[in-house]
Amino acid sequence: MPTRLQVQLPRRATRIRPTAVVRDRLAADLASGASLPVEPIPVARLTHSVRVAAIGDFHTRVDRPFLFGPALLNVSNQADLLLIAGDLTDSGRVEEFALVADVLGAVTVPVVAVLGNHDRRGLRRVAMRRTLENAGVILLDGESVVLNVSLAESDRESARIGVVGIGGYGGGFWPDEIGAGPPLDRATQAFAVRARREAARLDATLTQSSTDVDARIVLMHYSPTSSTLGREPLVKYWMLGNIELARVIDRYDVDLVVHGHAHLGNPAGRTIGGTPVRNVATQVIGRPVVYLLGDDAAIVESATASPLAGAK
Ligand SMILES: [Fe+2]
Ligand SMILES: [Fe+2]
Repeated sequence: MPTRLQVQLPRRATRIRPTAVVRDRLAADLASGASLPVEPIPVARLTHSVRVAAIGDFHTRVDRPFLFGPALLNVSNQADLLLIAGDLTDSGRVEEFALVADVLGAVTVPVVAVLGNHDRRGLRRVAMRRTLENAGVILLDGESVVLNVSLAESDRESARIGVVGIGGYGGGFWPDEIGAGPPLDRATQAFAVRARREAARLDATLTQSSTDVDARIVLMHYSPTSSTLGREPLVKYWMLGNIELARVIDRYDVDLVVHGHAHLGNPAGRTIGGTPVRNVATQVIGRPVVYLLGDDAAIVESATASPLAGAK
């Protein structure tokens, strides 16, 4: 039987950069009031649809313009809730957080975020957290929140959306999913230990979170599956997420997992147990996507009321 060290790794994937035409179109979309793409996600318990926008990995820097302002402000009238999947900043500086917070403070729907590995590079953790919270952002780290979302189609009803937020960690997906295991050295063994600890923290957070909700979402930075890693090279899988997170998620009633971090990944996948997973790194989806959560009838009703822009 081959050892992990004998697994043949593919040659490193060639990084494909967007063409000038795609780049210009994306910049125009981000700066305009264009409709955000919408994707239906079936949730049997929701008899009225809820619009959940999501994006991550802005990698904001002080020496380049923050282009996402208009697109994020669009979320206020095109979604009921905004999720941000980490790496809001490139180096975790408070000045970078302030640039994002200026925009998020003007978004009129609830904003829930987790931190990414780049956000954690900064040393001024308290100031960073305060900057986001002063802008009204609900920052989760092994915590959960239940949001009462008023429903656009109903004057009286609201929906309870539970969000469990945690950063996650690397560690890899071997052997449950295709992907080489990391070389066995001290660094990767340390990753495995931290991965198990983070999965245990997710488990505890899910156990303690309210089950009296109409839909439950797990928001993370790292991925719980290799099915959303797209063109990421196999040699990087152990840095992009871990299978322990999926094993935990699949034991609970979770309707959707949203993550970032995999810049070369693909937008849609599933955990090994079948829970829908969406990679919302901006390098993958370009601008916020609106997930339309609801039972079949609610989704059809919403689509009839306003045709799903960009729905797949
Ligand atoms: Fe990132
Ligand atoms: Fe990241």
